Amino acid sequence: MPTSPTKVRQAYVCSGCGASLNKWAGRCPDCGAWNSVEELPGVPPTGRGRQGYAGAADSARVLSLEAVSPERETRTSSGIAELDRVLGGGLVAGSVVLIGGDPGIGKSTLLLQAGAALSASLGPERPVLYVTGEESPQQVSLRARRLGLSGAGIRLLAETGVERILAAASSEQPRVLVVDSIQTTYTDLLPSAPGSVSQVRETAAQLVRWAKQGDTCVFLVGHVTKEGALAGPRVLEHMVDTVLYFEGEAGSPYRLVRAVKNRFGAVNELGVFAMTDRGLKEVRNPSAIFLSRHDQPVPGSLVMITREGTRPLMVEVQALVDESPLANPRRVALGLEQNRLSMLLAVLHRHGGLAMFDRDVFVNVVGGVRITETAADLAVLLAVLSSYRDRPLDLELAVFGEVGLSGEIRPVPNGPDRLREAAKHGIKRVIAPKGNVPKGGVEGLEILEVRSLKEAIDGV
Ligand code: TYD
Ligand code: MG
Repeated sequence: MPTSPTKVRQAYVCSGCGASLNKWAGRCPDCGAWNSVEELPGVPPTGRGRQGYAGAADSARVLSLEAVSPERETRTSSGIAELDRVLGGGLVAGSVVLIGGDPGIGKSTLLLQAGAALSASLGPERPVLYVTGEESPQQVSLRARRLGLSGAGIRLLAETGVERILAAASSEQPRVLVVDSIQTTYTDLLPSAPGSVSQVRETAAQLVRWAKQGDTCVFLVGHVTKEGALAGPRVLEHMVDTVLYFEGEAGSPYRLVRAVKNRFGAVNELGVFAMTDRGLKEVRNPSAIFLSRHDQPVPGSLVMITREGTRPLMVEVQALVDESPLANPRRVALGLEQNRLSMLLAVLHRHGGLAMFDRDVFVNVVGGVRITETAADLAVLLAVLSSYRDRPLDLELAVFGEVGLSGEIRPVPNGPDRLREAAKHGIKRVIAPKGNVPKGGVEGLEILEVRSLKEAIDGV
């Protein structure tokens, strides 16, 4: 039965995961969140039947993929090498980048510094337009002064209405547009409050549409909820080209910028900064900060060679194995996946002959790095073993390799890169999977190639 043309279809969306629903529900059927479903403004019914679209086809132009000659992707350096790295080599014209992170982590500081560096290199014809919806122009200027930045090429706009932001941007034609933050912007088209899902979705959509029509690179600042997801729907992540997360531990000066989605480069690329009293400083040699320097070897501590994006990284992993008073001993993994730790302990029991079912096991990755790759497996197990035996490992030893369920040690990507990074940082001995070592070895390193967990345990 055809819907009457005047009837408006109501739509609902979950603010947690962005799922669309056609009726309201107290709990999102997709992500299970309570009270997260919001009403979107009504959309007129579509569905015209096949014939109904016939006239519209003239205006759409279908191309053959072969006939499209790709324009060379033009990249501009942001003036901050660590930011360029996470972006995949610089800013792409017409792209939209979302930067998420906790309040106070340094998002505004980073964009202001990048803006100043950019405008210094681009010159005054194509300025950087910084739209501030959270701070007054005076506050931004005060910060710029404190950071010792010249604000010459930065144009400021204190505005939260997206239509007026885009009107200003269209007349300024900036090279870079920063919107700080997307949660404070709103569109006149919708009655809901700024920060609500429908507002965030619609304003972001307008900004994305505008960016795609020109060569301005748009940065959107987004807040992160207590659970660590970007506030507003996940939909925001689907709309933009690149999503960066700004992370850091409370009390630590180090800040990590991680690419979690990038249409123009590698994901999981990591940029490392330190927050100082003169703003963010790049950390060019991050391995140095993730190794806590012990003078004496301590049980349970071991250096692993991991990789973040395209860069090998040396990180210290610490384990503590202790008698447990609990019926269900604890397995706590910080910076690693908990289930992976349980799996590794089972492998250690079955193939290494060491039982941990009456012990609590804690594993921590130093410096607040999150390790997601399996190459950390072997280092975690050897650190646990070292704590269990209360026997320290050599300070000049580093380890990498994936552990399989049958106790085999599997090679991981980019073995030679990892080994070279280790040699650069004064490591003398490495335990690595067989097949990951280049012919002829690596200068200055004694490498033990292992095929099974047993060989690795015998080797330490
Ligand atoms: P900010 O960029 O305002 O964070 P966000 O935009 O992510 O909310 O960062 C503010 C924090 O950074 C604040 O806690 C103070 C600190 N900070 C410094 O330590 N040094 C500095 O030079 C600046 C500008 C900020
Ligand atoms: Mg801010």
